[in-house]
Parts: sequence; C-alpha cells; structure tokens
Amino acid sequence: MTIACSHNPNTIDEKVDNLLSQMTLDEKIGQLVQYNGFWDATGPIPQESNTKKKYEDVKQGLVGSVLNVYGTAQVRKLQEIAVTQSRLGIPLIFGMDVIHGYKTAFPVPIAEAASWNMQTIEQAARISAIEASAAGINWTFAPMLDVSRDPRWGRVMEGAGEDPYLTAQVGIAKIKGFQGTDLSHEQSIAACAKHFAGYGFPIAGRDYNTVDVSMVTLYNDILPPFKAAVDNNVATVMNAFNVLNGVPCTGNTMLVRNILKHTWNFKGFVVSDWGSIMELATHGYARDRAHAAQIAIEAGCDMDMESYAYRNDLKPLVENGTIPESLIDDAVRRILRIKFELGLFDNPYKYCDSVREKTILHATDFSKEALQSALEAIVLLKNDNSLLPLSKNQKHIAVIGALANDKDSPIGNWRAQALPSSAVSVLEGLAKYTSNITYVQGAVLNTNPAGFTHKVSINETDKSGFAEAIAVAKKSEVVVMVLGENCFQSGEARSRSDIGLPGVQQELLEAVYAVNKNIVLILMNGRPLTIPWAGAHVPAILETWQLGSQSGNAIAQVLFGDFNPQGKLPMSFPRSVGQIPLYYNHLNTGRPAGFNRVFWSHYTDIENTPLYSFGHGLSYTTFAYSNLEITPKKNGEYTITARITNTGTRVGTETPQLYIRDIVASVVRPVKELKGFTKVTLKPNESKTIEFVLTDAELGFYTETGAFTVEPGEFEIMIGSGSDAILLRSILVLK
Ligand code: BGC
Repeated sequence: MTIACSHNPNTIDEKVDNLLSQMTLDEKIGQLVQYNGFWDATGPIPQESNTKKKYEDVKQGLVGSVLNVYGTAQVRKLQEIAVTQSRLGIPLIFGMDVIHGYKTAFPVPIAEAASWNMQTIEQAARISAIEASAAGINWTFAPMLDVSRDPRWGRVMEGAGEDPYLTAQVGIAKIKGFQGTDLSHEQSIAACAKHFAGYGFPIAGRDYNTVDVSMVTLYNDILPPFKAAVDNNVATVMNAFNVLNGVPCTGNTMLVRNILKHTWNFKGFVVSDWGSIMELATHGYARDRAHAAQIAIEAGCDMDMESYAYRNDLKPLVENGTIPESLIDDAVRRILRIKFELGLFDNPYKYCDSVREKTILHATDFSKEALQSALEAIVLLKNDNSLLPLSKNQKHIAVIGALANDKDSPIGNWRAQALPSSAVSVLEGLAKYTSNITYVQGAVLNTNPAGFTHKVSINETDKSGFAEAIAVAKKSEVVVMVLGENCFQSGEARSRSDIGLPGVQQELLEAVYAVNKNIVLILMNGRPLTIPWAGAHVPAILETWQLGSQSGNAIAQVLFGDFNPQGKLPMSFPRSVGQIPLYYNHLNTGRPAGFNRVFWSHYTDIENTPLYSFGHGLSYTTFAYSNLEITPKKNGEYTITARITNTGTRVGTETPQLYIRDIVASVVRPVKELKGFTKVTLKPNESKTIEFVLTDAELGFYTETGAFTVEPGEFEIMIGSGSDAILLRSILVLK
C-alpha cells in the first residue's frame, strides 16, 4: 500500500498519491472519462454527445482526456479550461489516431512493415510524433499490433501482417519512435498498443466479428507483440471490440487484469475502444450500461472512450458498495502517472506552442524521409525476363488506370491531418523521367474520399474507357497499369468478401493484355489481393500499397531503376479467398504434401500454397546464400551465421530471414517460425557474413496454460530470402 504524502512529493508515484488524496470521487472518475472532440468522429456518435455539456464537464474536472481535438489553438483552449477552471487543475491528455504520419503521410502500416527496416519505421514514427506534438497531440492510438491471417479484414492495412515476431519488432520500433527516449520531451507522445487482443482474428474476416481461438494460438501468435510492447515501455494499451472465446475483451479479466497488468506487470493505463464498454451490453455480456461499467472497471479497463458509462454509472456503483473505490484509485493512478511522465503537470501547454506548430507543420519538409519509407516499402512480386527496370529512353509508355492519376488514394486510410489529394501521383512521378507517356484512365474507380460517412462503392461497372485504353496500349512499347483499391476500401469497417481487383479493373487488365503483353502491373492497395490471373500472365508486378505523400516519386524511381526494390511481404497473398486463413507458420498436419496421392490435406481445385508467400520479394539483382554455421555459446545462446553474395550486376539490399522448426514438441509447433531477419546491402560480387542469435526466448513456446517452456531436442534452422525460398538448412540440437 502506498502512503499519501502531501509535503514535497519527489517521485512520480508520490506525486500521484499526493494528488489522489485530494480528489473527490467525482474527480477521480472524471480522470477515467474520455470524450471525443467536437468535429472529427472516428466512431458512432453516442446520443449523449453534447458539445456544451462536454465543455462544462471539463470545467468541473470530470474529464481526463479528449480525442480528435488538434491544433494548438483548440488544444490550448480546452487545456486552459481544465487547468485554470477545474478545482484541481489536472491537465487533459489529448489523443488521436496518428497511425502513419500526422501531416506528412508515410506508407500505411502494412507497407511500412514490408520494408523490414526497423530504423526506417522508427524514424517515420518519430517524425509523426514531432508533427503531432507540434499540433497539440500527446498521445497516439498506435501501433496496432493485431496479427492477422485474414486479408478480407480491412484493418490489415493498419498492422504488420501475419507474423508475431515481425509484428513485435515493428511495434517496438514504433513505440521507440513515438515515445522517444524520454516521454517528457516536448516532441514525445505516448503510444498505445492496440487492440488487446485477438481483434485480427475475426471469424470470416468481418470487422468486429467474434474471435474464437485456442489458448495456444492466443499465447504464441496473438499476445507476443503486446508483451514486447509492454517490455518496451508502451505507455498505454487499448481494448479490442471483439469477443474472445466467449468474453468481450473490454470486460475480459483474464486478458487485462491477469495477463497484462499482473503477469506482465504493465504500469501504464488501458483505454477502451470507442464505445466498447457500452457494447458489452450489445454483445450480451452486460445487462445494461451500469453493469457494463462494473464489468469493465473490474476487468481492468481504466479509461472509457465515448461510452459515458464511467461518467454516469461508476459513482453509484461505488456508493452502493458494488465496486470498491480502490479499483477507481488504481485506474486514476495509472492515468495520472502517464500525465506526470509526459510532463503535463510541469507545463500543461508544452504541446501548445503555436510558433513550433507553424515551424514544424508549415516550414519543415519531411519529404526526404517520406520518400525513403515509400521506396523501401515497395515489393517486386514478379519480374519475368527482367522487364523491369524500364529504360529511361523508352519510346512510348501507356499508363492506364484511375489510380495512376489519384493524388488521394496513396495517402490511405487513417490519415490524421495529411491534406486530401496531397500525394505525388504515379503520373507526376513518371513525368520527372519521361514525357513519352500517354495516360488513359480506362476504368473508373470511385475515389470519393467521403471516408467514414459514406459507403464506398467498389462495384463500378463503367467500361466506357476500355476502347481508348486498348487503342493506346496497342501503340505503346510498354504498358504501366496502376490498379487496386482506393484509400477507403481498406481500413476499419472495410472488410471485403472478394479481395480481387475491385470493379472492372480485372476485365480492363485482360483486355489490355490481349493487345500488349508487355505490362508492368503496379498494385496500389491496403491489403493482400487475390490476383491469380495477373500472377500467371502479367510479366512484372510491383506491390506499392498506399505509400503516402511521396508515393509517385518512389514508384517512378523503382520503375526506372534508380532505386532497387527490396521490400518483402509481411502477409501472404492467397490465390483465392477460399484458402483464407492462409499463413506460412501453419502446422504440418498428419497428412501433409507427399503423404498419399489422394488422402492428404489439400484442395482438389487449387494449390495449398499462396500466390506470393510471407517474406517474398525480388530485387533487380540476385543473391546467393552459403556457409550456414551454428555455434553454441557458453551462456546457452547460439550464433547462426551465413554468407550472402550479390551475384547480379546492380547494388542491392537483401533481407535474409531466419526460420526455425521445433521438430518434436509437447505442443505441435509450426513448420516454420520467423525468429530473426537483417538487411544487407551488397555491391555486385560483394559478400558479407550475417549473424543471428538464438536464445531460449526464440526456441521456446507457450503451452495452453500460458507457461513458457523450452524443450530440448532437434530444431531445424532455415535461412532464406522468403518463407517459401529457404536456401540454407541445418539442425540445432538443444541439450
Ligand atoms: C478504432 C480504434 C481507434 C478509435 C479512436 C476505433 O473505432 O477501433 O483503433 O483508435 O476508434 O479513433
């Protein structure tokens, strides 16, 4: 038990206790309340929402945080009310979804993950924090650490794909970038690991749907990125909307109170997702809002985002003895602690400097960094007969596709304050290299950035542009087709049952191919797509995701060979939706390939494998792998080394990946698990030795009780350029 000390508190804990001891129950509960701001809504607006009332509540000290209020003028206005008019003057914390940039748009998270470059990812998060903090924001709802095996789920654009190890590394890089080395620095913002937990496993890929997974999957595939975030001092965690194995996450004591706060010793605070406390009743887990408030606070949810449940129902629950005040105190302590760590009590206006805002947001150019992130995120999926890179003297290039001329879609969903249509389009990027271009839209794609309020049409049927596209393609040496999804076809509430090219784009592709086979397909999308026809016919395919502000420049540099592509897929591309969930780290089954001609685990109409596997990505050069060595160290570690040689004619960067397989274990382990990766840049003919370290942390696994165990025996060690391109293998015997 901590003792309140009202004289000269020194440590943050003492300061927190000192303040807590002065607070009324109303003021304590106030700290647990988060209101949406007054303009942007990122979820359904509750009936109770009333701007005047919100201001009044801030004045009364009944609000701890707001979201979606930004800009120093607005933030200062609200902060001033909290600090100068409420009794105790406790500053508000201002949250916002700064997901892949604030004003400068970096590639959407799945694209960033495709770079496999943690320095680049950290830098993007750092710049996002620099910009957001200049605009009054001190808390971002990122990174999203939901591992997902289902590209129908629109939110895969917001995560790092299908692998827990990669997702954990990306999460750590982002947390470091957002929070910096000192949370109290004026350019640091608190990060939020979300959505805890299992949100990436919705049944049938439908957003917000039920999640039903085994405890083995939960412990080994879903939780590790969150544990890594906690171990790396993430300030906050957000509940998930979904039901996990029968219990909604926001009311899930096992997850939040037991695993997160007790077993992992998480000291920060937990925020609900938008309205997710109230939704406990909709799920059928709480009788009404008051019951929902009770369940959520007991489970360990500290802050209520837009349910009005804590605001209205906690006090009577404490007063009538249903819940002990100590539960409220614990939640308040956690929230106050983060506010102290951010330095908000020393200077509540530290994020409200309008001069800094102007300098950072209007006079500081981060396009160099945005370009680097975009370049590294591009994945060369296919390049038959080295069609790419294009010669800079190409006589005539046809560019076809609505997305080629779209300055908005590359910014992607969750765009914070990036200006609409502010990205460099593909056409603009190409124009810097050549004027021998004829552009035809070909197929209409609805690019109405209405976003959250309007349903985005993905079934355009207009083929009126086909004839012109075909005519231009006929006359051209090479055809660059830019096809995919617009910016709001992926993201929250954007699940799709068919993840092929939307609308008539597939037909357009085939029609153009019929007259000119020299096609470079540039995919622009927020999720893996099913493109089996393109995979079989189109000679060159570049996955360019939604690359942010510098999209067109990055794509042009890769097309013309000024940048050698180096991205690797963070998520498998299925051949068909029927294969989903499809992931590289699956189990062997009792009847794997080769078991029997008929009775083995397969489809009769399609291969088991994805079209493009996790970790896949080509380069304009080639690499050879050799000399795998495993060296045991005294402290139980193993050093794994291999030699990589650039066997082609261009400088290139390769991402060697280390996979393991625990061959026999008390819980069946996957056929491959990523346990390390590195990046190596090599000139032609140059070789370098790369090194990985394996410890118990990588060799062990969780049993269904959540116990971590390391079992002696044989482990297959694999190094490759992709999960489907293992080039070196050996056996490690763990004694
Ligand atoms: C999303 C969260 C987001 C929140 C606030 C919710 O709908 O699920 O990821 O942080 O809105 O915008």
